[in-house]
This record gives sequence, C-alpha cells and structure tokens, in this order.
Amino acid sequence: MKKNFLLLLLLAPFLLPAQGMWLPLLLEKQNEKDMKALGLKISADDLYHGVDPSVKDAICMFDGGCTGEVISPDGLLLTNHHCGFSAIQQLSTLENNYIENGYWATDRSTELPAPGVTAMFVSRMEDVTALALQNVSESMAERDRQSQIDKNIAQIKVNTKKEKWEELLIRPFYNGNQYFLFVTQTFKDLRFVGAPPSSIGKFGSDTDNWVWPRHTGDFSMFRIYADKDGHPAPYQVDNVPYHPRQFLPISLDGIEEGDFTMVYGFPGRTDEYLTATAVAQTGEVLDPAKVAIRDRSLKIMDGFMRKDPAVKIAYVAKYASIANAWKKWLGEMQGLKTYKALDIKNRYEAEFTQRVEQNADLKYRFGNLLPRLRQLYKDQEPYIFARDYYSETCLRNNEILAQAASLNSLIEVFDKNGAVFFAQKQRDIAPALNSFFKDYRPEVDEAVFAAMAELYAQNTKPEWGADFVQKEAAKYGGFPQLAAHIFQNSVIPNREKLQALFTESPDKVAETLRKDPAFVFWKTLNDAFQTNVQPKLQEIQPQINLLQRQYMAAQMVVFKEKKFFPDANSTLRLTYGKVRGFSPRDAVSYEYQTTLDGVMEKYIPGDYEFDVPQKLRDLWQSKDYGQYATPDGRLPVAFIASNHTTGGNSGSPALDARGNLIGLNFDRVWEGTMSDLNYNPAICRNIMVDVRYVLFIVDKFGGAGYLLQEMKLVKGKKKKR
Ligand code: ARG
Ligand code: GLU
Repeated sequence: MKKNFLLLLLLAPFLLPAQGMWLPLLLEKQNEKDMKALGLKISADDLYHGVDPSVKDAICMFDGGCTGEVISPDGLLLTNHHCGFSAIQQLSTLENNYIENGYWATDRSTELPAPGVTAMFVSRMEDVTALALQNVSESMAERDRQSQIDKNIAQIKVNTKKEKWEELLIRPFYNGNQYFLFVTQTFKDLRFVGAPPSSIGKFGSDTDNWVWPRHTGDFSMFRIYADKDGHPAPYQVDNVPYHPRQFLPISLDGIEEGDFTMVYGFPGRTDEYLTATAVAQTGEVLDPAKVAIRDRSLKIMDGFMRKDPAVKIAYVAKYASIANAWKKWLGEMQGLKTYKALDIKNRYEAEFTQRVEQNADLKYRFGNLLPRLRQLYKDQEPYIFARDYYSETCLRNNEILAQAASLNSLIEVFDKNGAVFFAQKQRDIAPALNSFFKDYRPEVDEAVFAAMAELYAQNTKPEWGADFVQKEAAKYGGFPQLAAHIFQNSVIPNREKLQALFTESPDKVAETLRKDPAFVFWKTLNDAFQTNVQPKLQEIQPQINLLQRQYMAAQMVVFKEKKFFPDANSTLRLTYGKVRGFSPRDAVSYEYQTTLDGVMEKYIPGDYEFDVPQKLRDLWQSKDYGQYATPDGRLPVAFIASNHTTGGNSGSPALDARGNLIGLNFDRVWEGTMSDLNYNPAICRNIMVDVRYVLFIVDKFGGAGYLLQEMKLVKGKKKKR
C-alpha cells in the first residue's frame, strides 16, 4: 500500500496533466496539442475565438466574484448555490424563505428580479503588452514606470474600438511582464429562477466545506435579461431574455475515471511563482496567526449560536464566511508541510541558480535576483504580520472596530470636503447601518472584542499598539472588563444612540465620535499601524514587485523548455485535467465520485448541516432516478478531477472533451488547498456537482422539469471505451 502511494506521488507529474490556468487567447499556441493528446475532441478555436461564436461566449463572471454559464438559448444561467446565496437571501422573507425551502419559478413572470446581481462576459481579448510597456525601461523607478503604464493604458483605451454597451479592461499578467485587454459586456438585469433548499444546496455546510467526499447540490439558476436589441440594460419590466451567441449543451453521458475535463471561469488569485521564503512566510507565519485569531472568534460565536437560535440566524452567514477562509488556511498550512512545498521550491531555486551560474549572460542579468528577493521577504515579514494581525483582529473579526473604521471615513470626508459631502456620505452609510444592526448582537461582539484585544496585546509589538491595549486592559482590570467598559460607554454598538447621533450636525457627530471609547480604541491602533507599519510596507512592497516581475521573466528565460501560465487575477481562464481519485496518505485512497447513497449515510434528522428533505429520502427509497442514474443504478452527486482551480472558479462549468457541460465546480479537496502556492498533481483536486444531480434535483425533486425543455441535452455522444 505504502509503495503504491509513493509510486503515485512520483509518477503523478507524468500520468496527470500539468497545473495551469491558461489564457483562452493563447490556447492554440500553448495548449492545444497537449489537450488533444489528453483527449480534447474540439479545437482551441471552438473554445475561444475573437470573432466567431465560441464556448467562451457562454461563460460569465457572476456577481463580481464567482463564475456562471449560460445553458439555454434564452439566457438561463447556472451557478453555485453559495454564489447566489446573498441574492437569494435578500429575496427571502419569513413567509417565503427560499434559502430554507428552495424556489422554482413556474414561468417567466415568476422569475424574481435580483437587484445588483451582474453577469460579465468577455467579447474578445487582445495582447497589448507592446503598447502598455511603450517608453517603459527597466531602469525606471517603479513609480515612474507605473505612471507611464497608466498613461499608455489610457491611450490604448482611447484607441480601441468598442460598442456603446461594452467596457474595456486592461490587466497585468506574469507579474507585470505582459498586459492583456478585455472587451466586456455586463448584464445588470438578472432574475432568480430557482434553487434547491439549503439542505441540498448547502448540504454538509461548514463541516464538509473543503472536504472530499462531498455530497452538496451546490447550484442555483438565474436568467439574464437584456434590452430589445439584446444588449445590457438596467432592470426594466419589459426587458427580454438574453440570447447568447453560444450556450452550453448538457451531457447526460456521465463521467468515468480518466475522462478529460476542462474548467472555464474566473479564478481570483494564486501565487505560484513565489520563492520558498515567501511560501514559508505564508505557511509558517501568516496562516498560523490568522487561523489562531479566527479559532478564537469562531469558538466564541459558536458558543452564543448554540445557546440561542435567534443569534444563530443572525450570525450564520458571518460565521460561514469567516470559517471558509479559516478552514482554507488551515488546510493550506498543513498541505504545504505534508507535501513538502519548501523542498520542492528549494530544489527549483537550486536548479534555477545552477543554470544561471553556468551562463555568463544569465549570471549578469539574474545572478542577484533570488538572494535579494529572499532578503526583502525577510525584511517585510514583521510588517506583513502586523498588517494581517491588525486587519484580522480590528476589522475582520470584530464588528465594533470595523464599524468605527467605517464611521471614521465619515469624519474624514467632513474634514476634507465639508458638510455637503458629509451629508451625502451619511445618507450612503445609513442603509448599511440598518442591515448591520439587523444581524448584530453586542454581547457576542463584546466577547469577541475581549479575545481580540488580548491576542493583539500578546502577539504584536508595543509600537503597533500592543502597549496601549495592555495599559487599557490593566486600567480596567482585564480584557473582559475593558470590553465591558467600552461596550457600555460607546454609542457604536447601540442602535438607538448611533441612529440618533446620525441626525446631528457634522460637527457634533465628529466631536462625539472622537470621544467615543470604541472609536478611540480603533483610532489608536489604526494610527499606530499607519505610522509604524504602513510606511515600511510602502517602502518594501514596490521593491518586491519589481523583483518578482524580474524573477518571473527570468524563469521564462532560464526554463525555456517549460510552459508558464500567469497567476490567476480574476480574468477568464481555462484549466484542464482528468477525472481522478487520489491517495492523500498511506493506505488511504479516495474514489472519484459520490452518490445519493452517501447523502443518506450522512443524514442526521433535524441537524442544521446534515438534514435531508423528506422528498429526497423518498426518491432515494424508490430509486426513482430516471435518466440521471449511473449504469449501475445509483444517483451521482459530485466528482473530482485534476483541474487547477481557485476561489472565483465557484460556479465554473466543468466541460467534457466536446465542450458539453458535465458538472459545476464549487470547491477543492482538503489535502490540496495549498494549490494556490504549490500545485501538486498527485493531491490537488477540484470538486464539482455532477450535472446529472443538478438536473435530477430540478426535475424530480423540484418538479421544474419544464426548464429542461429549453436546454440542449446530449446523450450517447461519448465513445464507449
Ligand atoms: N469552500 C468553497 C469556497 O471557497 C465553498 C464555500 C461556501 N460553502 C460554505 N460551507 N461556506 O467558496
Ligand atoms: N468555493 C470557492 C469559490 O467560491 C471555489 C473553491 C476554491 O477555492 O477552489 O470560488
């Protein structure tokens, strides 16, 4: 068993496709041959074309952070349940709780407008590196370089032809060595079509999050509406369904181990080209600190949520969001260690150095890079730590201090721009205050505050504010006492007092806040940060950016035989891989697919994470799976493959070799969450809902089978092997 596991680890680079999130524009040049060898049955042009319709016309950035895809000629859009979650929550009321009960529109008139939700498509992209870097030289100071590039970009935008309804986006790639232009169009009239209840769409919730085997039906559906000409327009009752240039056919053929797969979407951020020192910083210093902070705040929230169902409702979304990154960092730091990321990086750097040393020209150009980068990361470390510590304890986990920071922006507007702007800002903040207080419980926040203050005092430096926090705590006899003092005397956690203050004149608001104990507390820490941390970061970060840019370029020269993909940056990418289980450690191996039987194994009646709706239990009992069953009569739920994905790929379509939809990406496996820093093909897997489960839930569970009529279902297309 042990031998097999090691063998797989060693052979993985040869058995499995390499890592990468590739640029659609460059697929033909960089990947087509490789993809065809792995099983691709269509051409790079079918996937991306700048003029003719192609698969990319069916893919959009959903609501600014996720991915969605169009699955009908009438603009029906599929994305994750967790991507539609906040829109669905906002449409829900106590009587019509779509989160709890799910929803299916019965016709166009019952599709519910989802204000603010957007879908951004890429019309075409272009390499504009030469223009963007015109008159830029390597000897320029970073700031001058950037302002030259900004000027160039503005000029490119002026010179680029676009339609009225289109927008232009220009982004740096390969750490600023290349620039690409995207012509985009963003639809703003999206309507909620339907979603399963949370007990399906969020099944397993936080316990199962980032973990395989998984049994979540993580999907929801919207419809894109356009004006009569088919262009983006603000919401209008008489807008019409959008007819895309291309939509995704859906395969009912199912998947088998070894099948070629692609994921097409908008991955947010990766850092695959860091030095070992920088990876060590993340895995050994920053992740552990942030995890420890969130450990404390999550435990406190959980304690209150368990005692009181009302608190539970108020904090469940906040808890889930804090827990999501917490769990990812935990997986990441463990994965980096277990799968020896530092050894791998160090070996890579040694090889780089050796090649550079052997060639006088390379040595002259790149000989100093790595030592200087390593040193800069060392120099930067304490300040990055301070920044993360400040933002985690004072902004992310602590509501009263985050509120103080946002109120401070009010005072700043007043100081800088006067009363008229103040009044405007005040009007802007007012609705946010309402939604803040709807889900705010001062007693929870007070307990979190005490814990955060204690951590800050213990783990940061005197000049970053630890001194001040220490003294304050001593003054009141301890951290809980300090928290009690602040929460009793501050207006910020008190809805009535804060709203009353909001009706006062700017002078009065500013004066009151400047004396407020919570505000003073936040301001003192923020001042310490601005004075003793921020300037250092501003000094070191540009130097790191410059060297990372040079290191990226150097790697592309030194490892000529290697193909490099640019780090994710929330732009459209395609990644490919194979359906494949994995073996994370000795004697443990995971299969590639889960089924409804597994949902029932996890079923805990009445549990908030693992309850299963009666109707789904009935369907399971009667094995009424229709055309969605596997050949051996089970209902597929989720599957994994070796596609290289990250946050932002949620909702991305998983495609088969012919570009048909086979699933919906929504997560990664626990052991592979380190893939943002160190992708390992033996271990890293993305998790997708099987599209057959999606259709089964719509049709058999939701009774919305009429939606399938507008889709294009394909069957029997896959050659039997
Ligand atoms: N881990 C996935 C992602 O990063 C899913 C998050 C939503 N699910 C949850 N249980 N919080 O977004
Ligand atoms: N759930 C993630 C998202 O919202 C995708 C999982 C990942 O980070 O790979 O984008």
